[in-house]
Amino acid sequence: MTDPKLRVLIPAGEIQARIKELGEQISRDYPNGTLHMIGILKGATFFLTDLARAMKRDVFIDFIGISSYGKGKTTSGEVKVTKDLDISLEGADVLIVEDIVDSGVTLTYLMHLMEQRKPSSIRIVALLDKPERRLRPVEVAYVGFRIPDRFVVGYGLDYAEKYRNLDDVCVLEDTAAEPN
Ligand code: IMP
Ligand code: MG
Repeated sequence: MTDPKLRVLIPAGEIQARIKELGEQISRDYPNGTLHMIGILKGATFFLTDLARAMKRDVFIDFIGISSYGKGKTTSGEVKVTKDLDISLEGADVLIVEDIVDSGVTLTYLMHLMEQRKPSSIRIVALLDKPERRLRPVEVAYVGFRIPDRFVVGYGLDYAEKYRNLDDVCVLEDTAAEPN
């Protein structure tokens, strides 16, 4: 796909190599028990399926849908669940799988919600982290890549639902608004 607005930031090969490392590291950190991987729709689906295959242990997978009110660059802070989990989390080790941590609003909300379901532990893995943009402190246990404050698309990440199916993570140049 040649699109003049796209500039490759993280090539597919680097993404896959990093995911292999993360899979091995996380598998070492959870030697026993069942690990529930929970992907946040839709952006994290590509990352979750590759990470699950990089795991050296059994995993359960599930998805949660979340929408944050308000579009544009700033999040309103209000979040709602649009698709809930299928599997109970009681007593489980939970790994929340996210595409990118930006303000931290989404994950702060989700962590509160998941804690109410009494898992035995809960951690976050995010492919990308934009630490400069953080408004709420969130502890991200595993990060694929720290990136600068640029709007990125590809490998699950979208701009108005477009570009999710790119293999690379690319910077999208000249975007006036950046909807979540
Ligand atoms: P947060 O609540 O501000 O941390 O928002 C995280 C969500 O915003 C992510 O799950 C993405 O859906 C979206 N997001 C944040 N930054 C970007 C970006 O650079 N490209 C595409 N989506 C983004
Ligand atoms: Mg998202």
